[in-house]
Amino acid sequence: MSRSCICFSLFLILFTLLATAILGEEDGLVANGDFETPPSDGFPSDALIDSPKEVPGWKSNGTVELIEAGQKQGAMILIVPQGRHAVRLGNEAEISQELTVEKGSIYSVTFSAGRTCAQLESLNVSVPPASQTIDLQTLYNVQGWDPYAWAFEAEEDKVQLVFRNTGMEDDPSCGPIIDDIAIKKLFTPDKPKDNAVLNGDFEEGPWMFRNLSLGVLLPTNLDEETTSLPGWIVESNRAVRYIDSYHYSVPQGKRAVELLSGKEGIISQMVETKPDEQYTMTFAVGHADDKCKQPLAVMAFAGDQAQNVHYTPNSNSTFQSANLNFTARAERTRIAFLSVYYNTRTDDMSSLCGPVIDDVRVLVSGSNVNGLGLGLVLWVFVLFLV
Ligand SMILES: *[C@@H]1O[C@H](CO)[C@@H](O)[C@H](O)[C@H]1NC(C)=O
Ligand SMILES: *[C@@H]1O[C@H](CO)[C@@H](O)[C@H](O)[C@H]1NC(C)=O
Ligand SMILES: *[C@@H]1O[C@H](CO)[C@@H](O)[C@H](O)[C@H]1NC(C)=O
Ligand SMILES: *[C@@H]1O[C@H](CO)[C@@H](O)[C@H](O)[C@H]1NC(C)=O
Ligand SMILES: *[C@@H]1O[C@H](CO)[C@@H](O)[C@H](O)[C@H]1NC(C)=O
Repeated sequence: MSRSCICFSLFLILFTLLATAILGEEDGLVANGDFETPPSDGFPSDALIDSPKEVPGWKSNGTVELIEAGQKQGAMILIVPQGRHAVRLGNEAEISQELTVEKGSIYSVTFSAGRTCAQLESLNVSVPPASQTIDLQTLYNVQGWDPYAWAFEAEEDKVQLVFRNTGMEDDPSCGPIIDDIAIKKLFTPDKPKDNAVLNGDFEEGPWMFRNLSLGVLLPTNLDEETTSLPGWIVESNRAVRYIDSYHYSVPQGKRAVELLSGKEGIISQMVETKPDEQYTMTFAVGHADDKCKQPLAVMAFAGDQAQNVHYTPNSNSTFQSANLNFTARAERTRIAFLSVYYNTRTDDMSSLCGPVIDDVRVLVSGSNVNGLGLGLVLWVFVLFLV
């Protein structure tokens, strides 16, 4: 490495450090996002849950309780997603934290949440004026909690991240448990040259903790501008799961999507197309290696075409590729995927799972249309020369 090169590297590192200081939050846990920082007078012991404690790094309002792994409520043991501590939000209680962000950028918030006593618990996550209510009724896995992601666009350089329990339960201490709150600034991947799908390999998405093995649920998000999975929307009531190659089988790269909600978990994208042109959509369908009970099948949609693709178990590969041909009818064509079956894991018979999709491409296939286009370009070129 030459001297100037080293200098340049040093400069880059310095610049990055400086930029982080100026531009705000680094990707990862927010301040005390895992609730493991002890309050000034210590964590509440099991016997003293009545004494309210401030939660370091957070502002709270209403019954906000620091809970400890193993803590009991009646006959029920409260679940702490990770580490020793988490918080529980009572009726209409909230916690909030100010974040320094970059105005105009899109951020994704990852957090773990589980419900306690009530069935219909839900959590309002907001960075005012944006907000979303996350329904915690469906348990996607037997552990009793899941990581979720939600995205917002920063309208200011300083924003408030708020988690609020909107419920009104008879038992005011019932309410969602939250833990592991992280943030990630999203970038929109460049549009590939010959592929109309944005982020078709799913490599850009929400923050994932390296040591959390449950993936991240992506709940309904109908706004393609502010989505935790750039390019894609989750247009169904139920979630899909964003998975990583550290804990799951992923066909390509480090990330993919597991369709774990049957026909109620749909992801889609509007891709740019030319009317009357012929296209081929190719994609990988596989299993996540999470003991999901076969059969696995995906229904793929592209424009007015739809096709079922059954995954054929193959000892040599965790996925297969599939394709679907269609003719575009408009400037934008919807492509979408759902799982044909409702699958659960074979080991616990209740955790939801399903087929994995990855590496989605939409390529021009109509050679005659293409030939005409090329001909036209050549012709213009000839004209230009003349
Ligand atoms: C706490 O929440 C209540 C509504 O639930 C609100 O009226 C009150 O202003 C809040 N207090 C603070 C300090 O934010
Ligand atoms: C969620 O919270 C935001 C901001 O506090 C609020 O504007 C919105 O109305 C709430 N949504 C629901 C469904 O309570
Ligand atoms: C996960 O990693 C974080 C730091 O990266 C650590 O603080 C935490 O204890 C780990 N959790 C588990 C369950 O290993
Ligand atoms: C797996 O690979 C081996 C060797 O390449 C091949 O003989 C075999 O047919 C393959 N099995 C399947 C199910 O494709
Ligand atoms: C799509 O068209 C290609 C040829 O252009 C063909 O090889 C492929 O089998 C077709 N796919 C389907 C699902 O019919």
